[in-house]
Amino acid sequence: MTQNKQKELEFFDNLASEQEYNVFTDAANQKIIETILSLSNIQSGAQIIDLGCGSGIFTQLLDQRGFDCIGLDLSQKLLQIGKKQQKNIHFIQADVEALPFSDNSVETIVLSCLIHHLPNPQKLAAEVFRVLAPRGQFIAFDPNRLNPFMYLYRDRTSPFYSSKGVTENERPIIPGDIRQVFNTAGFETHSHYVEGLSFRYVASGTAKGFLPIYNFFDRHFFKPSMMKLFRAFVFTHGIKSMRHPA
Ligand SMILES: C[S@@+](CC[C@H](N)C(=O)[O-])C[C@H]1O[C@@H](n2cnc3c(N)ncnc32)[C@H](O)[C@@H]1O
Repeated sequence: MTQNKQKELEFFDNLASEQEYNVFTDAANQKIIETILSLSNIQSGAQIIDLGCGSGIFTQLLDQRGFDCIGLDLSQKLLQIGKKQQKNIHFIQADVEALPFSDNSVETIVLSCLIHHLPNPQKLAAEVFRVLAPRGQFIAFDPNRLNPFMYLYRDRTSPFYSSKGVTENERPIIPGDIRQVFNTAGFETHSHYVEGLSFRYVASGTAKGFLPIYNFFDRHFFKPSMMKLFRAFVFTHGIKSMRHPA
């Protein structure tokens, strides 16, 4: 299965006519940035390419921390919002499955809530591997299909699945499957599970009513480490290995 680019583009261009893309609370956005920085251990001033940057929420937060950022997305309209808000950041319209960067040229890549938008992320993994310098790294964050809320609300096989506010390309990821794709591309990977990323916004009216309950459970029920595999979000960290991809 491949990504339907037209559907993806239409969805995010339409969204951009109403608003910027900023679904988490400010505290959750900061927690995402802290997690990215602690997993990668990169120092201020380093170069970061934010793939699937949308209107650039995370590109901007990383820029504010002193990183040298480029944002890249398929949706020209979301990028225009980012360009208006953040004049010093370079935004590029491109497809992550054909990155406009030369081989071995990039230090760090953030896959910004992006992998779960690619039904088959093999091409993405190959492109990220191609452009990263040896020992370069990527950090991704995505909804975790092992989390009961994510499964029930966002997985197509669930009887409670809602297609509201999502593209037909996306579904929560199974962390081990994603690690395997990136390992095969030539990365050393590991998963890190995060709770407490509260949403400020969900599209479905019914889900909006449940949002405080979701946010409460997410913060408290999934906090103990024995629950970590079931937390709502999973970060995948990968380092470009020196061995050749399989
Ligand atoms: C869930 S949004 C994430 C936006 C932002 N990074 C955030 O986390 O708030 C996914 C983004 O990935 C972008 N995207 C999806 N497929 C893409 C592709 N093939 N190439 C570039 N961008 C893509 C979409 O346009 C959208 O902006």
